[in-house]
Amino acid sequence: MRKKIVAGNWKMNTTVAEGVELAKAVAARSSEVPASVKLIIAPPFTHLVPVGEAIKGTGIGLSAQNCADKEKGAYTGEVAADMLVSAGCGYTILGHSERRQYYGETDAKLVEKVKIATAHGLSPIFCVGENLDEREAGRHFEVVTEQVKNVLYTLSAEDMAKVIIAYEPVWAIGTGKTATAEQAQEIHACIRKVVADKFGDLAGEITILYGGSCKPSNAKELFACPDIDGGLIGGAALKADDFIAIALSF
Ligand code: 13P
Repeated sequence: MRKKIVAGNWKMNTTVAEGVELAKAVAARSSEVPASVKLIIAPPFTHLVPVGEAIKGTGIGLSAQNCADKEKGAYTGEVAADMLVSAGCGYTILGHSERRQYYGETDAKLVEKVKIATAHGLSPIFCVGENLDEREAGRHFEVVTEQVKNVLYTLSAEDMAKVIIAYEPVWAIGTGKTATAEQAQEIHACIRKVVADKFGDLAGEITILYGGSCKPSNAKELFACPDIDGGLIGGAALKADDFIAIALSF
């Protein structure tokens, strides 16, 4: 049985004090969520240590939103994988479309990031997804397949086993437009097949999350799909009650 996960990507929101308060509110309700569902929260770098304290003992996982493609040294402004581990992270989001789009992250850079993250024992939450033009041109399967192949095919099976994949169609992020359960399921099945082509049966064990305007009102339908193992939640993760409601939607 693969893990069900609901992960909250806080993006660049909340002050440290607000973030700690949000984390405490999530922690206070986390025991309502069945043990079969793993909660993860991904606050900004500045919040990791105090948020880690706030969720201690709850089983909620702590994730970064990015990680450097270098081990250490003169790379001003970057945060290395071992620093994230020392701050209490077990996960890091990598390849989010906002990083690809606004910060020029390429597949080549993501190969380095995924390798470094897994080498330090972090589980990457590796994001893929097509933009609106690609969807309208009917290229969504092709785009997502290439993103998975270009980066994840470079991993050993041992490191691939640590990866969580998140399918986030760019046109659904923060727009209120959600992929239909059918649209999401067919891409998730495609991603699993692409993983299986390289890694065989391991593909059945890989958690694949849906992200993009996922909220309490649509999570149930999405999570009922056979290849959708949970969600990567943006806006709705900033409200503890909505985040918990999504986690109760399996
Ligand atoms: P929204 O849930 O705000 O659409 O964001 C999704 C996302 O990008 C999560 O990483």
